Amino acid sequence: MSVTTFKKAQAVSQSENKAQKQTQGKIVIAVDGPSASGKGTLARKMAERLGYAYLDTGALYRAVALATLELGGDPAKFKDVEPALEIVKNNLTPELLENEALRSYEVSEAASRIAALPQVRIGLLEYQRDFARNPPGDVGGAVLDGRDIGTIVCPDADVKFFVTASAEERSRRRFEELKNSRPNLTQEKVLEDIQQRDQRDSNRKAAPSIAAADACIIDTTKLTSDEVLEEVVNLVRSRFLTESDISPSEG
Ligand code: DC
Repeated sequence: MSVTTFKKAQAVSQSENKAQKQTQGKIVIAVDGPSASGKGTLARKMAERLGYAYLDTGALYRAVALATLELGGDPAKFKDVEPALEIVKNNLTPELLENEALRSYEVSEAASRIAALPQVRIGLLEYQRDFARNPPGDVGGAVLDGRDIGTIVCPDADVKFFVTASAEERSRRRFEELKNSRPNLTQEKVLEDIQQRDQRDSNRKAAPSIAAADACIIDTTKLTSDEVLEEVVNLVRSRFLTESDISPSEG
């Protein structure tokens, strides 16, 4: 893969950015894109390679969705979602966000509905911004992945990626993940659901899922996650890190 994969490159020189790192401290990397585009894997691995903190913001919405379902509430009604939102905000831990139950089909559907509620988005905003400003641990920066990181949560992020892939390829990937736990599911049904969820996520009034004007767009339809990872890590390093920031073992 070459840099030409990125449809848009940011017009900021390396020297400007190195100076910016020295004066402003932590680097913030925004990774947005639709579900099953590969953005989560990319963001997580990028954070690992760069030694940055990582936040999966979709897990915040999923946690509120799961709590709403557990309380017997309707994910489309804020009055039902509000108690769940408070519970999640008061109990946010890395373990909570890693809970396997957040990945279920039902929670995905419910999360897409609660994410359309403006009060929920506002309720989760400060936690995300705070994470970006003060990432946990002694790290040089933070990688946040979601739908509105580059547009709403961190509009001043140092680098923004928008990761996408065709709906067919995304439904193929999601079907592979789900087929063992849901034997009756077909790939056609997954495609239909992904298309409906895309519609909801990109057409909602509150923070629709769209690429920021200054985002680098990465289409992963025909790329492996390792190919994409190498390219983005090199891009971030060339912009922000001096030789002394890169440990020899990282190559
Ligand atoms: O990335 P994900 O599939 O785990 O996200 C779950 C849902 O939350 C999805 O419907 C989109 C929504 N979401 C959002 O609206 N804004 C974010 N920053 C992250 C996720």
